[in-house]
Amino acid sequence: MPSALDAALAQLLDLRAKVEKTTMREKFANDGKRFDRFQVRLDDMLLDYSKNRIDDAVMSALIELAKASGVAERRDAMLSGEAINITEKRAVLHTALRNRSDRAILVEGKDVMPDVREVLSRMKEFVGQVRGGDIVGSAGHKFTDVVNIGIGGSDLGPYMATLALSPFSGGGPRMHYVSNVDGAHIADTLRTLDPRKTLFIVASKTFTTSETMTNAMTARDWIGSALGEAAVPAHFCAVSTALDRVTEFGIGLDRVFGFWDWVGGRYSVWGAIGLPVAIAVGFENFEAMLSGAHEMDRHFAEAPLEANMPVILGLLGIWYRNIYGFPTHAVLPYDQRLARFPAYLQQLDMESNGKSVTLSGEGVTHATGPIVWGEPGTNGQHAFYQLIHQGTDVIPADFLVAAVPHEQLSDHHAKLVANCLAQTEALMKGKTLEEATAELEASRMAPEEIEALAPHKVFPGNRPTNTILYKSLDPKTLGRLIALYEHKVFVQGVIWQINSFDQWGVELGKQLASALLPAVKGEAKPAKAQDASTKGLVAAFHALRA
Ligand code: F6P
Repeated sequence: MPSALDAALAQLLDLRAKVEKTTMREKFANDGKRFDRFQVRLDDMLLDYSKNRIDDAVMSALIELAKASGVAERRDAMLSGEAINITEKRAVLHTALRNRSDRAILVEGKDVMPDVREVLSRMKEFVGQVRGGDIVGSAGHKFTDVVNIGIGGSDLGPYMATLALSPFSGGGPRMHYVSNVDGAHIADTLRTLDPRKTLFIVASKTFTTSETMTNAMTARDWIGSALGEAAVPAHFCAVSTALDRVTEFGIGLDRVFGFWDWVGGRYSVWGAIGLPVAIAVGFENFEAMLSGAHEMDRHFAEAPLEANMPVILGLLGIWYRNIYGFPTHAVLPYDQRLARFPAYLQQLDMESNGKSVTLSGEGVTHATGPIVWGEPGTNGQHAFYQLIHQGTDVIPADFLVAAVPHEQLSDHHAKLVANCLAQTEALMKGKTLEEATAELEASRMAPEEIEALAPHKVFPGNRPTNTILYKSLDPKTLGRLIALYEHKVFVQGVIWQINSFDQWGVELGKQLASALLPAVKGEAKPAKAQDASTKGLVAAFHALRA
């Protein structure tokens, strides 16, 4: 079925041609109110989207596209517990995990909120006991270190949030995250730890993920050989939807925190998967993060589309991906503690919207999810910004920055903010050949040298950015930020008519890795049907080890 995007394409391309008649620089010069018109505020968070290749006509057409695509209807279906994840026949209710209202949320007629609250209250008790030293290791030692073993959604969210909220740890234990099946990851982590004082959280929605199970067994052996087999239960807890498999592993039900199949792995930091975050920063701060996300949920549900932050971010992404064909989107936090935010968003966005088939099983007729990437500023400025400023691809980017830092260290923060704002200004304005030439002339360079050098100093400008300015990176702000991007990804998935909540694309590699394992271990020959490259690599691998 042709999508609303297909139907609107000609009009949007026409609007692109019109909007390109003036640069952003000219648009700002002609319109003193541009900043006021293209912004949204939520509490102490500001989204400035005025530095985009847009005008009123573009924004109206994009809002019409959202309406025609049924964004509001699909949003309401998601929030009310409809099974919108059709390939897995599941509701999509991460918003229930952070529902701070007393509204019931029904899945197949049953209110899920009592179960959600029960798990949160068990987490609260456990977190207090671990942080307070009431739950201790097998030899009576307080836990000084907690290791979360998980991967993908069972790692990226908690890891990112723990780092982001590190000023709120209040004397809690040190947190470690082990995800990779590469033994170097767990070996390097355990090397620094005392088994008597170490608690492991095995976090896996399915409790079958090879990386996590392999690391969990290694951790179990480490505790067993240091403290004896009987010590194992005291040093482990688990987070999963598969309680039977957790019990098989040997973790008692009193140490298991559950969640439900209506929570996708990459959307799961709000419930039991957030346990390490809650241990790291205390339960009150974890709850503040939930409240921040809930606030964004309400904004998403209630604000008109034209003043709705996730809707606007989503539509701008569509504008650049489908109307301009820009392939990537950068996320550039000027906030060192958001260092893992781009990696977190990679899973959120690329696992959700990296799809080529529509809900009805047909091939999509347009591009879907962009490549998402990024690093904190100012580091990126000294690495890849060259390409963002002068490269041949245009890379729309989000800049994130706090008004108030946690550290009052001389003028660090003023310099950080100045850099952040200067980058978006430079990307928007650029520098013309005349300006570059005039600058060189002022330095009294010889005319022939000026002529040779000036073209290299030209910046095309007109490069789009959003700026998200928030008061400070506290739990509430972090909750709002994560939920903002979750809903942005949702809006785009609706417009692309894809299922943002499954991830079949990760399966083939898993299947082939299992099939290859015996040959890699030297227990079997590669299958006959295997291609020559794979067979050759297995043989070369064994030759190098001989
Ligand atoms: O392989 C992808 C994936 O299924 C992600 O969607 C998920 O977050 C991750 O693996 C981990 O899965 P689990 O929590 O079941 O171990």
